Amino acid sequence: MKRLCLVAAFSALLLGAPHLQAAEETPSYTKDIQPFLKRYCVECHGPNKPKSGVRVDSYEAMMSGSRKGKKNVIAGDPDASRIIMTMTGKAKQMPPRKYAQHPTREEIAKVSAWIKAGAKKDTAAPATKSSQGPTPPRRSEPVAVTPSRPTLVSPR
Ligand code: HEC
Repeated sequence: MKRLCLVAAFSALLLGAPHLQAAEETPSYTKDIQPFLKRYCVECHGPNKPKSGVRVDSYEAMMSGSRKGKKNVIAGDPDASRIIMTMTGKAKQMPPRKYAQHPTREEIAKVSAWIKAGAKKDTAAPATKSSQGPTPPRRSEPVAVTPSRPTLVSPR
């Protein structure tokens, strides 16, 4: 019994740890990435005179953009993605040091995880997806035909 309680307490601890959760779940573009970019980057990388021509205000603009042959985002390869490189010290630091808001390591890790997982436009929770999966085709039951007026055949 005591052992069970310990297990329960430990798993509760694990569930409560946000960084572990982030590592397990694939971040969603609309839920995690878009708000991140909006908060830390879009002010200077939006549609209006984006710095260095880098735009991250829309998925399409971000994915299609590149600079000096380096793509903003390379699906599956965060370390070679420009937006990550600028946040991990491998390129000019972004957001610029003087900028008021700076992402935490965990937040950057989330963007990185999203790119690693394929940088999809959105990641609907897989659980809901599979539960909405195709329903197996129903067997069409043969319709029982019962003559409405049984014909009485007089045997003799
Ligand atoms: C305060 C304005 C500002 C913010 C906020 C900002 N940037 Fe920038 N960004 C710049 C400027 C200015 C440059 C051009 C720097 C240069 O080339 O000297 C730039 C350049 C870049 C480049 C091209 C750099 C290169 O070496 O190719 C990338 C990629 C980039 N930013 C990504 C980001 C990301 C991702 C964020 C959010 C985490 C961000 N920026 C936030 C101002 C900003």
